[in-house]
Amino acid sequence: MIGAGDMLVIAIDGPAASGKGTLARRLADHYGLPHLDTGLTYRAVAHALLIEDLSLDDERLAEQVAEALDLGALDRDRLSEYGVGEAASRVAVMPAVRRVLVEKQRTFASTPPGAVLDGRDIGTVVCPEADVKLYVTASPEARALRRHQDAPEVSYDDVLADIARRDARDMGRTDSPLKPADDAHLLDTTEMDIEAAFQAAKSLIDDRLATRT
Ligand code: CDP
Repeated sequence: MIGAGDMLVIAIDGPAASGKGTLARRLADHYGLPHLDTGLTYRAVAHALLIEDLSLDDERLAEQVAEALDLGALDRDRLSEYGVGEAASRVAVMPAVRRVLVEKQRTFASTPPGAVLDGRDIGTVVCPEADVKLYVTASPEARALRRHQDAPEVSYDDVLADIARRDARDMGRTDSPLKPADDAHLLDTTEMDIEAAFQAAKSLIDDRLATRT
């Protein structure tokens, strides 16, 4: 897919349950690239504090946890638990935590042959020089329905309220707020299934690759 020795970095951003994670995994698989779900790095910091019953508001402590984090040891199943996302968005407002995690994420992205990274600030902060930037979104109602289907133990109304709270926190924070990079391609998946989103993203990336050769 990519020539020998070529680097390819694909940055995917978007709000909670927009479908960016599934899309990122499909693209990584298709282009033979490593994938990093950067949300898991914020979730890992929050989870480590939660299981020790430590404060989620102590920036120095959260920074130390972030420093000790090994990107190779992220346990997706444990970290994907519903409540961890909300706690992650609380530690994600802390500049000291972001500084440490962004550094680790950049090292991952800059290692040949490149990578697919998904999160909130990949195109704007982590990899501003990415070859392709996608901003994946969907209506809050469509996102709430998807998340409710993944976690049926939480009511649709509670999921919708949680999504609204997280959108506000992620878009409203001072350090690295969630927003599309100026040169990002917008992909609204409200009416799209995974396959349609994958095909749309693939055609944008293939166009970009064609201009490199
Ligand atoms: O999977 P979901 O969309 O619910 O969330 P996630 O991608 O796992 O991210 C959890 C939280 O981490 C988000 O609500 C953000 O507050 C934060 N995050 C961030 O600030 N920057 C990133 N690059 C990735 C996640």
